[in-house]
Amino acid sequence: PIPIFTTVSAYREWRTRAFEEKKSVGFVATMGALHEGHLGLVRRSLAENDLTVVSIFVNPAQFAPTEDLATYPRTLPHDLKALEATTHEADATVTSSRMTAALFLPSVHEMYPSGITQEVSAQKGTFVEVKGYGHQMEGTSRPTFFRGVATVVTKLFNIIQPTRTYFGQKDIQQALLLRRMVRDLILSHPTPDTFYIIPTTRDPISSLALSSRNAYLSDTERELAAPQLAAALRAAKHSWASGGANKASCIQVATELVSTKAQELATAHGIQMKLDYVEMNDPETFDVVPDDVTREVYLREQVGGVEGERPVILSGAMWVGKTRLIDNIVLGDA
Ligand code: PAJ
Repeated sequence: PIPIFTTVSAYREWRTRAFEEKKSVGFVATMGALHEGHLGLVRRSLAENDLTVVSIFVNPAQFAPTEDLATYPRTLPHDLKALEATTHEADATVTSSRMTAALFLPSVHEMYPSGITQEVSAQKGTFVEVKGYGHQMEGTSRPTFFRGVATVVTKLFNIIQPTRTYFGQKDIQQALLLRRMVRDLILSHPTPDTFYIIPTTRDPISSLALSSRNAYLSDTERELAAPQLAAALRAAKHSWASGGANKASCIQVATELVSTKAQELATAHGIQMKLDYVEMNDPETFDVVPDDVTREVYLREQVGGVEGERPVILSGAMWVGKTRLIDNIVLGDA
């Protein structure tokens, strides 16, 4: 079975040995309820490192008091089985017979020794904020979310001391903000260069981005409603690429697609579906792209000193019933 560390001190002994033996340590941070998206990150880490650590910690600081902290899916027995199976698969391809993965499973007290409340105004202690990068896109709807994420991931990096770390493009703002934080805080484990962003794993049939929160959806919501967000982003990407469109008209395409589908699903199945936002942002600064910008403008931009297309992020969030789903695609990344 996979070794499980529930305290920082137990983990540190293991990490010290890995340092001494000059073994690389890959790290995947999660909140559990593991699915193929998480496991894709774990496989990358297993392939590229001597050892891999996965953390499972449902972080109270990144849930607003109105959000789903209490009901967030917790499936530890399933998660352990999935991790063991994934590790066995990877170990079978190398000659060593020992487990190369470990699980870090701390308590709330271990991660927040001075305590933690979800009410920001009542919080005490130390928090990490990436100024200017957390208050747009997802930060508009969830104003204290990224402060909670940056704080817990700083703690996790300090504990785990990863040689390399893997985050998903599914949460693109989170991944880019954390990489900026690693650079700004001049961390050594990981560095900005050993911080990897891995493409989104999708359901092979519906293209729905895999997410732990998909577990909240009914079968019809998951099959009929949830995939419409990705479909809307793809339609907007198509419109952007076909020329003549500007940002505003692309977003209009996405918005109309969802609202048409929403009316249909409400009538036929009683499903409630509503866009929260669709927005286009710069991947470095997260600045909102002006409404009248066209793809042609970005085609003329210089990328790393050579002429080429400058990528932009098209991201969105959508409510299906009481469940909030997010997704994104990069335009001009090919
Ligand atoms: P969680 O939602 O569990 O996601 C853990 C990691 O898996 C994140 O890097 C996320 O982007 C990635 N991931 C989730 N779904 C994915 C998919 N379909 N394809 C590829 N990667 C996917 O994100 C968090 O937890 C937390 O905010 C955390 C970083 C652990 C801090 O608490």
